[in-house]
Amino acid sequence: MSSLEHATRFLVEAEPEDWWVLHAMEKLISSYERIPIDQISRVSGLDKDEVEFRLGRLGNTMLVICSESGHSLTSAGLDAIALNSLAKRKLVSAIGKPMSTGKESDIVKAIDDLGKEYAIKFYRLGRINFRAVRKKCEYASSFTGHHWLVVNLEAAKKEYDALRRLHPLGVPVPEATARERHAILMKKLGGSLLSDIKTLDHPVRVLRNIIESAKLAYTLGGMVNCDLSEHNIICNGEKIWMIDWPQYVEKGHPNSSKLLDRDLLNILGFFRKRFMIDCKLEATTFYVRGWSDRLEIF
Ligand SMILES: Nc1ncnc2c1ncn2[C@@H]1O[C@H](COP(=O)(O)OP(=O)(O)O)[C@@H](O)[C@H]1O
Ligand SMILES: [Mg+2]
Repeated sequence: MSSLEHATRFLVEAEPEDWWVLHAMEKLISSYERIPIDQISRVSGLDKDEVEFRLGRLGNTMLVICSESGHSLTSAGLDAIALNSLAKRKLVSAIGKPMSTGKESDIVKAIDDLGKEYAIKFYRLGRINFRAVRKKCEYASSFTGHHWLVVNLEAAKKEYDALRRLHPLGVPVPEATARERHAILMKKLGGSLLSDIKTLDHPVRVLRNIIESAKLAYTLGGMVNCDLSEHNIICNGEKIWMIDWPQYVEKGHPNSSKLLDRDLLNILGFFRKRFMIDCKLEATTFYVRGWSDRLEIF
């Protein structure tokens, strides 16, 4: 069962005291890899026996992992907290099927009371490391990695801030409505990943749209995506959206020029190979930086 399935199952049967324990543990994740029971008791305001009972319940549903050396919140535990908060804010009323299970995130469909469709991105940085460690060592079943939960919280914050900055500037990125913990709630985009698209009616227009969008992000937003490629562009005929921003850097970053050129090279290389159209890197980078108004694609 996936982390999200554990979390959604738990939501149905959760009792208030379970939440108190989960929230207390969440407050302590940056201080402890394994949290002592008396700390959970102190922060939650519940007595030790009650905390022990709640940890037993939460352990059975995989939201926490308990060991002699202390107790850890799992990614399913953080998923449950995030989902519950989105539901309490009435932003989401149901979640649906996974849309994508990647190396670094799980994306699921969600709807609100009005039936509007959303995508929720749950960060999963470290998941691969966790599996690799677990494969190698028996004892790693007690390894949960609060460190990774904190890394995921930070990544979600950074991407959410990027999306909130870029969208009002007219940069085509998903419209992010909320962030809860390591989860970003975004409008669901229609279209396919550019890497999955074999034919386009107007590839030159699509390439021009992408370059224009990178220019807007750079000149108005002052940001470089740093992972721009056919795998992070959703395309719907001619319209495109640039997704996946947690690794962006500011224009003022010492490596921003190199990183911008690397992004542009990825895109130009893809269009050259798949659609046989060409555009020189130098002309493109001058255009994106606002140093020239001319962009020839041939
Ligand atoms: N707002 C969205 N609407 C529809 N699909 C999305 C949306 N955001 C992401 N996706 C899908 O989820 C996949 C993973 O998202 P992405 O942000 O690239 O995360 P990762 O870090 O896992 O690559 C994308 O390739 C895309 O197919
Ligand atoms: Mg991606």
